[in-house]
Amino acid sequence: MQYNNIISDFSDGITTITINRPTKLNALNKATIFELHAALKMAESDFDTKVIILTGSGEKAFVAGADISEFAHFDEELGRLLSKEGHDLLFDFVENLTTPVIAAVNGFALGGGLELAMSAHFRLASSNARMGLPEVSLGLIPGYGGTQRLAQLIGKGRALELIMTASMIDAEKALEYGLVNYVVSQEELVPKCIELAHKIKSNSSLAISAAIKAVNANYRDGVNGFDVEISEFGTCFGTEDFKEGTTAFLEKRNSKFPGK
Ligand code: COA
Repeated sequence: MQYNNIISDFSDGITTITINRPTKLNALNKATIFELHAALKMAESDFDTKVIILTGSGEKAFVAGADISEFAHFDEELGRLLSKEGHDLLFDFVENLTTPVIAAVNGFALGGGLELAMSAHFRLASSNARMGLPEVSLGLIPGYGGTQRLAQLIGKGRALELIMTASMIDAEKALEYGLVNYVVSQEELVPKCIELAHKIKSNSSLAISAAIKAVNANYRDGVNGFDVEISEFGTCFGTEDFKEGTTAFLEKRNSKFPGK
């Protein structure tokens, strides 16, 4: 598929999707959201893709937010639609992918940019990264999951302070808050993600998908995460990956998971 706003690259089991509107600091316009949805859906259905890395092009921004020029004239109904469509196409969609998604936050991650990074399964940041949810400075609130995911990741008090003050935190503060797992230099950012992706893909992709479903279940209303864990745990026993993993252990050799 031909993309205008993103670049999707596949290499050695890893699909890297780069948001590519550097002159607009990779702001998420509607077209970019649609392209991201298409590329992520394709990566999820590709048997060979074991990990997805999401990053931004250029040295300045991961994503500087939703594209303000596209919604500045919206009314209440269009505002709700914008939020709902974003949740469905991108933010909830990313969180619920069963292929692991790592966000490589290479600069500003503001508003929808931080919300996208928070939808990923975990995050790394470059040392120049700056993160925040500045929507109240525009007369808005975060509308792509930020009010929920920021509080889940860093706690309610810190999240509300960050949202109410519309301030940015730097990469070190984000590390201290647990918002990102590592801070490295900009040059090391994607290589560090790739290193982690290789560790991930040496394990059973089916078991990893089951783990994502079980962990996510804790954050879904009306779902008992322990029940989901029990069910997913049982399902693993029916896979070839389980037979291979346990057999390899008993035979004292490395596993070669078929992903089935
Ligand atoms: N939506 C649309 N365009 C955006 C954007 C966004 N969220 N963020 C940046 N841009 C555009 C700017 O309008 C500018 O375009 P132009 O050159 O055509 O005028 C270009 O990207 C570069 O941004 P600029 O503001 O000139 O860079 P800066 O280094 O001075 O400031 C930021 C960087 C990130 C601090 C600043 O761009 C900013 O505050 N962006 C908006 C952040 C935000 O509120 N996000 C939440 C949206 S809900």
